[in-house]
Amino acid sequence: MKVFEGIGELITLSGVVKKSGKRIVEKDLGRIRNGVLVVDKGRILWAGSQSMWVRQRKGIPGISKAKKVNLEGRTVIPGFVESHTHSVFAGDRSKEFEMRMTGVSYEDIAKKGGGILSTVKATRKASLNHLTEDLKLRVNRFVKQGVTTLEVKSGYGLNSSSEIKMLKAIRSISSPKLVSTFLGAHAIPPEFPNAGKYIDYLIADTLPKVVKAGLADRADIFIEKGYFDSVIGEKYLRACRDAGLDICVHTEQLNLTQGYQLAIDQKAKSVEHVVQLDAKGISEMAKSETVCVLLPAADFYLKMAYPSARKLIDGGARVALATDFNPGSSPTQDLSLVGVLARIEMGMSLPEVISAYTFNAAKALSLESEVGAILPGYSADFVVLDDGWDRLFYSVGYHPVHSTFWKGKRVF
Ligand code: NIG
Ligand code: FE
Repeated sequence: MKVFEGIGELITLSGVVKKSGKRIVEKDLGRIRNGVLVVDKGRILWAGSQSMWVRQRKGIPGISKAKKVNLEGRTVIPGFVESHTHSVFAGDRSKEFEMRMTGVSYEDIAKKGGGILSTVKATRKASLNHLTEDLKLRVNRFVKQGVTTLEVKSGYGLNSSSEIKMLKAIRSISSPKLVSTFLGAHAIPPEFPNAGKYIDYLIADTLPKVVKAGLADRADIFIEKGYFDSVIGEKYLRACRDAGLDICVHTEQLNLTQGYQLAIDQKAKSVEHVVQLDAKGISEMAKSETVCVLLPAADFYLKMAYPSARKLIDGGARVALATDFNPGSSPTQDLSLVGVLARIEMGMSLPEVISAYTFNAAKALSLESEVGAILPGYSADFVVLDDGWDRLFYSVGYHPVHSTFWKGKRVF
């Protein structure tokens, strides 16, 4: 058992949990001045103010033997949940960046064999060991920014052996918590004549192998012009759900495809990007239980419009934010950039951004009763800040993280 004392301000997110991540205002952050946090067996046992602690500590068995840690007046906030990344890949797409800056579009680069398929070539060639070592470095960069739960997708293998290789790299990392998403349906590999034939292969061959080996927690598909349509998507998502995986959908990134409707109908936990939603799409998403995972760094790099976060949130949608880190559309791991774009370009308030990067992101990953808040029973995942919470998502390239704790252990 450990008692963390001397917490200048403890941000619990108690109000965010009560409101289940919707219509968040500052008081939902559940700020406690002069806080104390008690951790036992990797979970939060007690969280509250110093004055309450003085009155209640006697009731906790074994408390006299607990180790004390003084945080010297620093702020403590729940560990960040980075809910959408493509962190396993080989190769490099910096030339495509330069091409885009001369006016060639992301879609045209893909049509010429670049884009996702160029990363597929490099990733197929890479060994499991190479992918794992690179992934470890990338995971560490997230942990240094206070990330304690990280989602990572496959999707650059596009055949059974290479998809499984990517998922094994994800599963080989035991700290912090990694959520593994099978994204075999990311693009159509050149060996297949069309999307339908490839999806049939995924359903018959790859999916059963992935599920049998316990390599994935969720499945994802890219519903987009030139990739997969909603008819194929429905068949695929049903198969993934029947196989026991949670589902999510990349959609409405480049064109409005009505993929959001498929996501809602199939009870997807989250829908990713949703930049191109029309008024009907916004109101349907706002009414649904599916979390909108917004990825403004990808919109920034692709010089696209930003999603209508304000309308979604005001309509009652649950919004999460993530980097979408990948070598093509979003070659950045910087949480501060994402949050600053959300504030400047999408009109989100700081409490909304904080909730979007903690509890709401946890909800997208079906982990909202485990992570994303500092309440008794939750995993003891938290960040000690060098500065006040109001300095988060303020300076691009700087996150005031003093240390990161995962399951009560210091991991940075
Ligand atoms: O989320 N949209 C599809 N997938 C990724 C991009 C992957 C890539 O360009 O390599 C995304 O933006
Ligand atoms: Fe993505």
